[in-house]
Amino acid sequence: MSSPLTQASLDAYWMPFTANRQFKQAPRLLARADRMHFWTPEGRPVLDGIAGLWCVNAGHARPRIVQAIQAQAAELDFAPPFNMGHPLAFELAGRLVEIAPKGLNKVFYTNSGSESVETALKMAIAYHRARGEGQRTRLIGRERGYHGVNFGGISVGGMVANRKMFGTLLTGVDHLRHTHDPRNLFSPGQPEHGADLADDLERLVALHDASTIAAVIVEPVAGSTGVLLPPKGYLERLRALCDKHGILLIFDEVITGFGRLGSPFAATHFGVTPDLMTTAKGLTNGTVPMGAVFTTQKIHDTFMTGPEHVIEFFHGYTYSGHPLACAAAIATLDTYAEEGLLTRAATMAEPFGAAARAMRELPNVVDVRTMGLVAGIELAPLDGQPGARAFKVFLDCWERGVLVRTTGDTVALSPPLIIEPEHVDQIFKTLTEAIRSAA
Ligand SMILES: Cc1ncc(COP(=O)(O)O)c(C=O)c1O
Repeated sequence: MSSPLTQASLDAYWMPFTANRQFKQAPRLLARADRMHFWTPEGRPVLDGIAGLWCVNAGHARPRIVQAIQAQAAELDFAPPFNMGHPLAFELAGRLVEIAPKGLNKVFYTNSGSESVETALKMAIAYHRARGEGQRTRLIGRERGYHGVNFGGISVGGMVANRKMFGTLLTGVDHLRHTHDPRNLFSPGQPEHGADLADDLERLVALHDASTIAAVIVEPVAGSTGVLLPPKGYLERLRALCDKHGILLIFDEVITGFGRLGSPFAATHFGVTPDLMTTAKGLTNGTVPMGAVFTTQKIHDTFMTGPEHVIEFFHGYTYSGHPLACAAAIATLDTYAEEGLLTRAATMAEPFGAAARAMRELPNVVDVRTMGLVAGIELAPLDGQPGARAFKVFLDCWERGVLVRTTGDTVALSPPLIIEPEHVDQIFKTLTEAIRSAA
């Protein structure tokens, strides 16, 4: 049993990405979870409309995953990952490569999405140096991009609140324009307009010269800045331009990986393969922190030179490939495979997307963006209080028993991939009431 929440314990915890003072006046606590639901300490059920935080793709407390973690903790609690190994880390890598986009057949473990991003950025720069183009150090991100919270990630990221307090960030970084185009409002799925926004890379090449640019990093579907979908042809064009200029393309698939769009990865979904791909979250169904960077044989082999006793890539984490995380990930992949979850979003996309698009009729809904089991419902901001209307909707949904997430004035939904039609109904009925009350 957990101890009662005291004022001292409430005060002691500085919560991440949270309005701490608001939270502590009326804490929203989750004590238990199973499949599509959380329960509060008082026993009130709350339907999970966001898979925890885009991570619990197979739903909560799945027995196979729980048992694998429990058994692994008793068998091998930790093994040093540097110059040592344990069998599960290799087994998992083999399993991941089987479902990865073709050509991405090397896996490097991290502990989070942010660490996957740092790892991929470092790999890109080091790769160019290892093959004799050490002047290619510049990194290109995109406005409104989110790539976690470490210095590389916030430098290539494009969210002002995540950047402005933290000094000069990494130098030698530039940004493509974002892909949100008002001509695309209420597009069902991939929007028509904006493939040409990829040509922004030519502008940056003209400014900096391709010979200075190591990599471009984008989210195939941007989640944290309000669900921004790639315009038709955009990712293909970006791929072609990167190839033309010898620039590596990194897809940040921390939220799109593991079935969110109806394919195992966004790269498979859109048919565009990056040179590096960052993942985390759904890798272990959110149960144990873990991330993975996927890359190609060519990039990997470029490092495999020099004396054989010398480390080839000076990078890694104490908890890279942690035994509990590997056990959780293997059991997660088994669960995904058994239940067809990596493609289930394709089946549920239509009823889910249609219910989301029906929100268009509600007051103050200014756009709806949907793809797979993702929806962004954008609301008109309250005068002079950006984010306040969506936050009100979030609180109201919580009171009514549904967990949603907001970013700015967009309500973002990303439910577990095991969602059934009755859950879709409950989410959108609740949201409808909450949006009406926030009018
Ligand atoms: C696209 C993307 N990259 C990176 C991250 C950071 O992941 P983490 O919070 O595990 O560090 C996130 C988290 O939401 C994300 O959406």
